[in-house]
Amino acid sequence: MKYQSQKVAQLYFVGALILFAAQITFGLLGATLYVAPNSLPDFLPFNVVRMVHTNALIVWLLMGFFGATYYLLPEETETELYSPFIAKLQFWLFFIAAGIAVAGYLLGYSAAEGRSYLEQPLPIKIGIVVVALMFLFNCSMTLLKGRKTVISNILLLGLWGIAVFFLFAFYNPANIILDKMFWWWVVHLWVEGVWELVMASILAFLVIKMTGVDREVVEKWLYVIIGLALFTGILGTGHHYYWIGAPGYWQWIGSVFSALEITPFFAMVIFTFLMVWKGGRDHPNKAALLWSLGCSVTAFFGAGVWGFLHTLAPINYYSHGTQVTAAHGHLAFYGAYAMINLAMITYAMPHLKNRAPYNQLLNIWSFWITTAGVFFMTFALTFAGVVQTHLQGVVGLSFMEAQEQMGLFYWLRLIGGIATAVGVVLYIFSILVPVGARAASPAARIQPAE
Ligand code: HEM
Ligand code: HEM
Ligand SMILES: [Fe+2]
Repeated sequence: MKYQSQKVAQLYFVGALILFAAQITFGLLGATLYVAPNSLPDFLPFNVVRMVHTNALIVWLLMGFFGATYYLLPEETETELYSPFIAKLQFWLFFIAAGIAVAGYLLGYSAAEGRSYLEQPLPIKIGIVVVALMFLFNCSMTLLKGRKTVISNILLLGLWGIAVFFLFAFYNPANIILDKMFWWWVVHLWVEGVWELVMASILAFLVIKMTGVDREVVEKWLYVIIGLALFTGILGTGHHYYWIGAPGYWQWIGSVFSALEITPFFAMVIFTFLMVWKGGRDHPNKAALLWSLGCSVTAFFGAGVWGFLHTLAPINYYSHGTQVTAAHGHLAFYGAYAMINLAMITYAMPHLKNRAPYNQLLNIWSFWITTAGVFFMTFALTFAGVVQTHLQGVVGLSFMEAQEQMGLFYWLRLIGGIATAVGVVLYIFSILVPVGARAASPAARIQPAE
């Protein structure tokens, strides 16, 4: 760790991992309800379990982004953070707000406006904005007083974008078509727009640190990736406008531009592998390198391939809202945004804790088990979705009649989920629990300065 103020990142990473564990726990509860509908107590109905699962997901990913930013900004700008105090205060406000929101959901309080991911009651939403402003102020002031690199500029552009698009969470038009359109301005323009800028810049930071490739080369790639992301992702929003009552031309615009959305993810795969191959430097943190490569590959499959599967309007007409969507949602969120955070945490924690022997073997096992678990869930849900599409769209069964034929796949999803949960426990263990020098391989020793 080169700069003292980087230390605040640790708070964020630990907070993110706690919420990640909560997310997975509620995922397992949701999957259990799918196969045994009356197995949980009354205060855990499916809609609440699902809401906690998806909200915890978003919050831990954002918390990870905040931590990643606080970690990399001092190194990129070559200056201490503007205010470590604001960073700590902001963490506790965010963490406590998340806790209150979850407690509220369990007690039955939520803004029931039919907008997934944005169920937070108004005071919590306002709290989120305050936290975001503190964060952006702190980071922008740091950037202004320090060295300005392409990585930190693009990262901050992405983070400002996240905050700006969140403002549409406050705009709930009475017209249900407009309501849906603006809901997607948050959800879609986040994950297929500004979050991609955050992902690409964190990936670029990790690649520079671990491969030693020239910054100029990495920066050129970064421009290409974010150019492709914005060019395809903004009009790609049209793939959510097919059947909500928007004009028909969106079926063309949405199909064409969202089909191209695969390109930034493809570019990230080429970028990471090319840099690692060219760099050829033997970085001691093999686990972090594995997560970085795994991130670009899994994001390519989850977002790119599984997104493309159902993004053309004539196909989406049949697959819309089936388990195909859930399969894609899981692999895309995991590959792109969970894995980029797990890569950064794996890279940064040994430096933050100044711990030389590092339990890489366990971490590498957790990579394979978690990733295999999520892929298994994805396959189970994809098959379920294909069967569902056929039964509802071709045979003409009703939604519930089709569900009765899909039980096997839901059991398989639960099994994949249990594997995922085991992997996550191993990951958390490998990051937080120190190991004796004997347990770590010699190659696992981290040089403190890098
Ligand atoms: C990392 C990036 C991405 C993430 C995290 C993500 C996540 C999601 C999620 C969670 C949903 C379900 C939303 C809901 O209805 O509540 C969804 C829907 C959808 N996504 Fe993605 N996605 C990503 C990228 C992509 C890409 C690149 C494509 C196209 C190539 C795509 C195509 C679609 C389509 C067509 C739907 C609508 C499915 C339906 O009609 O039911 N996604 N995405
Ligand atoms: C133990 C592992 C997990 C299990 C058992 C699980 C289970 C579930 C269940 C049952 C739902 C509700 C589906 C529905 O409404 O029909 C769900 C939704 C969702 N989960 Fe998970 N999940 C797990 C892990 C994850 C992970 C690791 C991620 C991402 C990093 C994730 C992201 C999502 C998303 C984005 C949705 C909303 C999907 C949509 O709207 O289509 N889950 N999950
Ligand atoms: Fe989308």
